[in-house]
Amino acid sequence: MQRILTGIQPSGILHIGNYFGAIRPIVEMQGRGEVFVFLADLHALTSLQDPARLRDYSRMAALDLLACGLDPERTVFWRQSDVPEHSELMWVLSTVTPTGLLERAHAYKDKVARGQSANAGLFIYPVLQAADILLYDADLVPVGKDQKQHLEITRDVAGKFNEAYGPVFKLPEPDIPENIATVPGLDGQKMSKSYGNTIDIFMEQKALRKRIMGIVTDSTPLEAPKDPEGSYLIELYRLFASPEQVEEMKASFRAGGTGYGHYKQQLFETIWSYFAPVRQRREELLADPDQVDEILRRGGARASAIARDTMDRVRTAVGLR
Ligand code: ADP
Ligand code: TRP
Repeated sequence: MQRILTGIQPSGILHIGNYFGAIRPIVEMQGRGEVFVFLADLHALTSLQDPARLRDYSRMAALDLLACGLDPERTVFWRQSDVPEHSELMWVLSTVTPTGLLERAHAYKDKVARGQSANAGLFIYPVLQAADILLYDADLVPVGKDQKQHLEITRDVAGKFNEAYGPVFKLPEPDIPENIATVPGLDGQKMSKSYGNTIDIFMEQKALRKRIMGIVTDSTPLEAPKDPEGSYLIELYRLFASPEQVEEMKASFRAGGTGYGHYKQQLFETIWSYFAPVRQRREELLADPDQVDEILRRGGARASAIARDTMDRVRTAVGLR
């Protein structure tokens, strides 16, 4: 059976980019293979140095993923920091990773260009990610398009290790949903927690409406025809509506006579009802928080057993025993 693995950083509130780019593909993969999902809290430390918030975000991400349909009976679900082998393998892998490979990483360069201080953790972030994946012999890694390069680095690092020490690691394949690609944010850039342009999955109704009203549109007057091509409003609507509904909205754009406010209201209503069942499930989980801790504890135990085996193999291969 294929082993499918992915990680989600608990570095903020989960948004619909995370939902379509990561959560929904994971939920849909359950049953198609052996699924492994973890909260990448060690990765989150590279950009979040606030213990209370990290704890909160981790708890919320666990709750949100379970509400969105992650099934702990079928999927191994744990917190990265509960399994110390992630960090240990990262160190070993860092010794076969050329620094040039990391210097070329877009995610690192972008973060630094945006003013984040270049800590060493941020620099070796892809090595920790490689450890996450290689520790479990994953076949397939479902991620958004922005993670493509990190997966290439994982394969390169695994290859370097195997060249030096023999065939210890399996090279994983990325699984990037083609039809979704990158979900745009309110301003049309990639939706991202770090850009403050998100629509969150579990927003209060009023806040959600306000966020959607804040989508940037051009200044075409109400009565004039509008260009549906390249409109983020339509790109977002497409994620939630049927193809017929999308065609209707496009036709209405072209016809003119309707203001953007009306389309935003329509988008708001569509999103609100789309997430109604997962909101309901989240309420149920919130009423029993111990249940979530217990799920993560059990997942951690299952993950540890595999991680320990891999580290035994690695220690033997490199001569640490
Ligand atoms: P963020 O950019 O908000 O910090 P993360 O980097 O933690 O999000 O991404 C978590 C997962 O969600 C990854 O698999 C990533 O590829 C996916 N993802 C994040 N933003 C988007 C987006 N705008 N469109 C599609 N997928 C996304
Ligand atoms: N870097 C990924 C992101 O920001 C999160 C992540 C960490 C991950 N480790 C991973 C994803 C291993 C897939 C596999 O989205």
